[in-house]
Amino acid sequence: MDEFKIEDNISYKNLFKPYGYINGEWIDLPKGKSFDIYNPSTNKIIAKMPEMGIDETKYAIESANIAFDKWKKKTAKERCLLLRKWYNLVLENIDDLSVIMTLENGKPLKESKAEIIYASSFIDWFSEEGKRTYGRSIPATQIDKRIITIKQPVGVSALITPWNFPAAMITRKVAPALAAGCSVIIKPAEQTPLSASALIYLAQKAGIPKGVINLLVANNPIPIGKELCENDTVRKISFTGSTEVGKILIKDSANSVKKVSMELGGNAPLIVFNDADVDIAVKETLASKYRNSGQTCVCANRIFVQDGIYKKYSEALAKKVADFKVGDGFEHTSDIGPLIDNSGLKKVERHLDDAIAKGAKVLIGGKQPSLGGLYYEPTVLTEVAKNMVLFKEETFGPLAPLFRFKDVDEVINMANNTNYGLAGYIFTKDLNTAWKVSEELQFGMVGINSGILSTEVAPFGGVKESGIGREGAVEGMDEYMEIKYLCFGNIM
Ligand code: SIN
Repeated sequence: MDEFKIEDNISYKNLFKPYGYINGEWIDLPKGKSFDIYNPSTNKIIAKMPEMGIDETKYAIESANIAFDKWKKKTAKERCLLLRKWYNLVLENIDDLSVIMTLENGKPLKESKAEIIYASSFIDWFSEEGKRTYGRSIPATQIDKRIITIKQPVGVSALITPWNFPAAMITRKVAPALAAGCSVIIKPAEQTPLSASALIYLAQKAGIPKGVINLLVANNPIPIGKELCENDTVRKISFTGSTEVGKILIKDSANSVKKVSMELGGNAPLIVFNDADVDIAVKETLASKYRNSGQTCVCANRIFVQDGIYKKYSEALAKKVADFKVGDGFEHTSDIGPLIDNSGLKKVERHLDDAIAKGAKVLIGGKQPSLGGLYYEPTVLTEVAKNMVLFKEETFGPLAPLFRFKDVDEVINMANNTNYGLAGYIFTKDLNTAWKVSEELQFGMVGINSGILSTEVAPFGGVKESGIGREGAVEGMDEYMEIKYLCFGNIM
């Protein structure tokens, strides 16, 4: 039996830190000021964490500000060597980090491991890139002038992260911030703070100085979020989460005119043209749609399939979906874990009920499995139409709705008919179609014959109400730096 049992493996407990972390110290609070963390697979409480608020937020900001002064004065190489030690420790502890993630998020252990590798890739990449934050030398318009630009860290940065990628969304922000010379305050999602504290424990072990990384945890994020946005000392807010919350954070940050990065909701179109390779289109749709039980903001949300391939593609997709095993993330057979909470489950059910009432047909799935709880069967719906709620809203669950279309212009119009603009996907063998549609899609990222596009080396981010700024790559580093222009005069 190679099935994982938590009780067989208690080593992860070294990394199990149910606390906040400020100024280099783990912080617990008196009893009564705590909140519960649940395992979504079993609905059992796995930890109690301190309910932090405004006082702890002010203390974290002050500590981060003091630490910033020293951290920014280290050489880029010194900072990057510490990041590299952190990267090595993350990989050395991959098994334990994955267990903690599966415990609090529910995703299958193999997906947790893949996420830890993805998370570590940001630390790896920015530990190199931090040494290359070059400015420019600009030819001046006057003979006695010399012009250069330098890049400097923006300052204390507040990083607010979601539950769907409890590790990668942290490292995608922390690594460039630290490499640039910023100090940070992390507020992870209330459902998944244990992956955050485990990562911070490893950062502490790597030797990242006190105050450079701080962690605030709470079930009620509002007082913390407000203080982080309104406090003048914080110079940067980076948020990954819903568009609704992102808009509030932008408004709250306006008075102190902070630099903001927002990675918000999506409503990704995935377009399958008549000439697509069906096997590739199906394989990549599965990867895009059902990753993390459909709970990513780049998951295909609306699948547009051209008339001539609709039957072949939908049958092939349903056949593969039938092979998925739904279950506890610790069972090695599980491909699809539970949804994160009851409101996530209710949303999937609401989208399905609305679609069926308006004429959609269930090709496979369409209900909870006998396991009950927060599990939902991976589902494929056909004969889906534009008047259904799932055309407008992000489902964030394992529901694949298949729309029909006739021609390129029609599908471009349908795909762009949304306030969101994060990711889009197209499947075709025709280079002309690939170029034309990629250029016409109003989305920040386009996968061509690929359902997965996330990587540390490319700029991740959206347009319209899907966000501001980019994460990963050179662009992700610039989000934590200001450009200063120096003008030297009277050079004889
Ligand atoms: C997200 O869902 O917010 C991020 C997904 C990714 O990085 O691939």
